Amino acid sequence: MITTDRTVRTFLDYFRERGHRLTPGGSLVPPPGDPVLYTTSGMHPLTPYLLGQPHPLGRRLTGVQRCLRTTDLDEVGDDTHLTVFEMLGSWSLGDYDGPQSLRWGFDLLHNGFGIEPDRMYVTVFGGDGQVEPDHESRRTWEELGLPVEPTTGENWWSNGPTGLCGPDSEIFVWTGDEVPQGTPTSDDRWVEVWNHVMMRYVRHPGGRLEPMRRPCVDTGLGVERLVRILRNTQSVFEIDLFEPWLTTLPRIWGPLDRRSLRLVSDHLRSSIVVLGDGVTPSPYRHGHILRRLIRRTLTTLWRDEPTRTLSDLPIELVEHTLGHFRQPADPHEVRTGLLDEETGFRRLLQRGRKVLSHRRFTGPLTDDDYRRLHDTYGLPRDLVVYLRVETENG
Ligand code: SER
Repeated sequence: MITTDRTVRTFLDYFRERGHRLTPGGSLVPPPGDPVLYTTSGMHPLTPYLLGQPHPLGRRLTGVQRCLRTTDLDEVGDDTHLTVFEMLGSWSLGDYDGPQSLRWGFDLLHNGFGIEPDRMYVTVFGGDGQVEPDHESRRTWEELGLPVEPTTGENWWSNGPTGLCGPDSEIFVWTGDEVPQGTPTSDDRWVEVWNHVMMRYVRHPGGRLEPMRRPCVDTGLGVERLVRILRNTQSVFEIDLFEPWLTTLPRIWGPLDRRSLRLVSDHLRSSIVVLGDGVTPSPYRHGHILRRLIRRTLTTLWRDEPTRTLSDLPIELVEHTLGHFRQPADPHEVRTGLLDEETGFRRLLQRGRKVLSHRRFTGPLTDDDYRRLHDTYGLPRDLVVYLRVETENG
């Protein structure tokens, strides 16, 4: 049976056998002073080394890193998106070149994980006004016999408006039932699993691109997506990691529709990992994102049944999650963090219901009303909308 742990081991062993040293994955919260709120990619902790500082473990690295992405929040519940996920990575810090990385990528997916080449499609950078097409990657893929789709915006990787960047090449795997058809940009049954970034530039404020003296290669492969493909299931939720969630939650809270069950599993699991990395809910920065995840979980649960409560969440699910991410946090404290946020949120909603029952707020609301509800009563717009739908539904 294909498990997440075995998949991670196969990847790391493959690169270790090719001279890569294992970097310990770290917290979701980057060190103070980092402009990025949460680690969104495996390369993030390696930024100084990609920029040229010598790494104590050498120039070939591999590892697995927990990541959090809120850009995809509205997509959580579909077949492929998760808030917290793990990314496997391999890095050449000015050592081997991009084509070598692509060849290993193909070899591992095909010979290591058994994915047939006729289920693979790759995209490469097709060039823009500033940088020419990535001919080298295209040639490599063609030599390997894979179909290639060139794109522009989709195949340029950067970590923000300035800093490290370069053309990338993404490997997609077909997840449809029929024979593969279309291309990665025209059929979303092609699922992206592995991105190889040719880090060749640093972008300066104002947009100027400076070629790096020592180009690097940074690759990232989404663990849960790969496991889903290897197990041939319909979504990232049907893998071993989510099994305890999908079976336990309906048992404690009764039936939930598929999208809600996925959303609640994803958000609760993500909140546990974030709490486990020492964040507490608050109106600011890291805490704000955590608060949004917990509150979104609660409003989803309460839409059908307002008596559902996180007090029913078994401690085993918290332990299972912290254990998977090798987090030393105390599961009971993490669970208390969730419960405290629920208590605070229930109080806020009660206050909100009272405020919204004032005559002034019972009719259609203007932007001015929303501003006043927020500034004077501490009720954000999405909460007001939630409470009004609640009132309409009786
Ligand atoms: N940095 C690249 C990504 O996030 C590859 O790791 O896709």
